[in-house]
Amino acid sequence: MKEKLATLSFSDGSPSVDFPIFGGTVGPDVIDVRSLYAKTGKFTFDPGFMSTASCRSSITYIDGDEGILLYRGYPIEQLAENCSFLEVAYLILNGELPNKKQSTEFNTIVSQHTMVHDQMNNFFRGFRRDAHPMAVLCGVVGALSAFYHDSIDIHDERSREIAAFRLIAKLPTITAMAFKYNSGQPFMYPKNSLSYVENFLYMMFGTPCEEYKQNPIITRAMERILILHADHEQNASTSTVRLAGSTGANPFACISAGIASLWGPAHGGANEAVLKMLDEIGDVKNIPAFIKRVKEKDGHAMLMGFGHRVYKNYDPRAKIIQKTCHEVLEELDVKDNRLIKLAMALEKIALEDEYFISRKLYPNVDFYSGIVYKALGIPVSMFTALFALARTVGWIAQWKELIADSEQKIGRPRQLFNGATHRDFVPVDKRK
Ligand code: SDX
Repeated sequence: MKEKLATLSFSDGSPSVDFPIFGGTVGPDVIDVRSLYAKTGKFTFDPGFMSTASCRSSITYIDGDEGILLYRGYPIEQLAENCSFLEVAYLILNGELPNKKQSTEFNTIVSQHTMVHDQMNNFFRGFRRDAHPMAVLCGVVGALSAFYHDSIDIHDERSREIAAFRLIAKLPTITAMAFKYNSGQPFMYPKNSLSYVENFLYMMFGTPCEEYKQNPIITRAMERILILHADHEQNASTSTVRLAGSTGANPFACISAGIASLWGPAHGGANEAVLKMLDEIGDVKNIPAFIKRVKEKDGHAMLMGFGHRVYKNYDPRAKIIQKTCHEVLEELDVKDNRLIKLAMALEKIALEDEYFISRKLYPNVDFYSGIVYKALGIPVSMFTALFALARTVGWIAQWKELIADSEQKIGRPRQLFNGATHRDFVPVDKRK
């Protein structure tokens, strides 16, 4: 087949240059501009990566116009309906759904890595009791580097695999420890006879004094929500993990960088921000005034949980979470579902408003997730930590893909410089 080319021409009479065009299996073609600077002495300018593909990947595909999300080709709706979180984790990491034997082996291996080094307990004590769980996660996951730094050869496939098992297995333990530390309760050691999600809930809500009774409704809802958050191609935190990983940093440090990036309210921190926003609005009658403030961009007011860089349609995950939300509230017989009523009224008003329609702003994954978490008894400050727990699977799969990629180079963007040009030093007594 004839190579497709893009020709770049200049208005200043410089000769035009050709660049190869690459096609993926699906989705928009990309123009390979890697030789642009060598050929023209110019860079591209793309703050926020509006039009830049930073890598090749075969993990997750999003069609933002159609509202489609596929992990390794499988629609998110099918995976959320039929799989356990660890099955999806296996799929994201390895490219195929596990057969029975592979599934059992994977569950066993993950469960063998659930405990953290006992010295970690001392590490926790360094945090204030009221430290935000995301601050604790950044610190403690980064600190895993101190325990495993010497045992990791990132160029060895087996080493990378073990790092993946460790991270996937230990994140629930560390997340639950962050919660327990916050609430002043003793840490619960993992119980490997339980499933991944059951074990997490046990470590979160169990105490040494009483038997923790699993509720299958809560387990299934949690399983589904973790699946929905497991990966999302080159979002901000994943790109952070890849950028850190491109320097050869160890994976625990890279995932810690990803957690820091996820924390922001424009990204994973939005689930916590949505609940705060709903609390602030308080009542359906206050929605029009809030929407007015958002449209006037009054004091940076934003409709949290709305809008997405890629989705210009309903985020398919939001649809599933909204459904899960109704199921959970009904099954748990939550009488006061004021929050869901408020969220649905807010969604309806926004979706009919010209401001949101013209900007193609729809609910994203974070709009309803907090309401489900709240119904499941998860405190608001833990919401983003749960996102991090689930996304660790995606981050580590993307990190593995990066390290195994022969085209991988250290990430090093350039800039359009606007500052002072050369000037000479002036002694302090001569400065104006
Ligand atoms: C996640 O990338 C991923 O895949 C992320 C994620 C994942 O799984 O990893 O999906 C998870 O991060 C979901 C997003 C969570 N964030 C929020 O819910 C916060 C609220 N949303 C916005 O901050 C915003 O929509 C972003 C950050 C999500 C997307 O930002 P973009 O693509 O840079 O869009 P933009 O800021 O340039 O917005 C375009 C216009 C602007 O108006 P104008 O300047 O043209 O007048 O839309 C407006 C924005 O002001 N706008 C909003 C809005 N989002 C965008 N106005 C009001 N409320 C909003 N939520």
